[in-house]
Amino acid sequence: MEENITGNDDKTIGVVGLGLMGCSICTCLLIAGHKVIAVAPIAADLDHAENRIRKHLDKSYEEGMATMKSLHYFENLVITTDYEELAGCMLVIECTLENIEIKKSVYGKIESVISPTALLASNTSAIPISILQNETLHPERFFGLHWAEPSHTTRFLEIICGEQSNVELGEKLYNLSHKWGKEPTLVRKDIRGFITNRLMYSLYREACYLVENGYATVEDVDRACRNNAGYWMTLVGAFRWMDLTGVAAYHTVMKDLLPTLSNATEIPKLIDDIVKAGGRGVANGKGFYNYTEEEARLWEETFNNFSYEIRKLALKYPADVVSKQL
Ligand SMILES: NC(=O)c1ccc[n+]([C@@H]2O[C@H](COP(=O)([O-])OP(=O)(O)OC[C@H]3O[C@@H](n4cnc5c(N)ncnc54)[C@H](O)[C@@H]3O)[C@@H](O)[C@H]2O)c1
Repeated sequence: MEENITGNDDKTIGVVGLGLMGCSICTCLLIAGHKVIAVAPIAADLDHAENRIRKHLDKSYEEGMATMKSLHYFENLVITTDYEELAGCMLVIECTLENIEIKKSVYGKIESVISPTALLASNTSAIPISILQNETLHPERFFGLHWAEPSHTTRFLEIICGEQSNVELGEKLYNLSHKWGKEPTLVRKDIRGFITNRLMYSLYREACYLVENGYATVEDVDRACRNNAGYWMTLVGAFRWMDLTGVAAYHTVMKDLLPTLSNATEIPKLIDDIVKAGGRGVANGKGFYNYTEEEARLWEETFNNFSYEIRKLALKYPADVVSKQL
């Protein structure tokens, strides 16, 4: 890699935790040309990790996203339960369950083997980086690296600095991540939920409010999301959208609308009831919708296919699409 971040071998990156996201993060890094040390903290990961990564690589090759067949990338991949293998990594990405105690125990094992100049990052969805870095030996070298599933097709990546993170190192990670096919965001100041989850959870809260209070059904809300935001969000973000469609109108609407939006701080009953009854969504067929096994499988497959399609569209419209036409 051109960007030498740590003075270590910048080609080798470790991923610890080989669940849903760990496997797609490994795929992304392999396609970008890294050597990847994939550590399984629990034996169950070994049952599926290799197969999952191979499937992602095969599909990426079929879609023209990866230039070589999976066999080539597998030469750069080590799947192991042995943390010692992480010793030469310049960066290790932790991708275990969203549980501080588990993450803390994993950091201890990682830091006992990696170089003190290596970087450590977490794919946590919402635990503040300033809290997680307190559990590490070198908090200034600790960052959030928040990916979106499937990590190898999405352009999204948030690099989050905690209170003690060295922002210059964060900037270097930001530069490096462009080589992973990302259009990243550097969050210079830690905030719970980072950027995207703060935006999305305000939407989820309002969606629950509308359904719980009888204004719309789950299907109505989903249709509105797909056909409104779904038509512009891959091209522009909230601010460019307001510019495109007349910023003054938003100013007028905000005055009367904002006071009526939900600002509830409790978990909405709609989702609480589902989760307390054991619902896990497509994973067990019970969520806001019910799914037969076949429907669940088809939704997963369709989402996977769609993620390759939308990536192609997004690549045609990068953030600087207009300046390129000037
Ligand atoms: N799923 C998403 O879309 C998504 C998006 C962004 C961030 N994240 C975050 O990524 C992380 C992993 O999420 P995921 O969806 O891959 O979860 P997952 O349930 O698919 O995988 C979790 C992994 O955690 C590890 N693990 C489980 N029990 C453990 C234990 N006792 N000790 C050590 N390791 C253990 C295993 O490697 C397991 O495969 C979480 O912090 C999650 O919040 C997930």
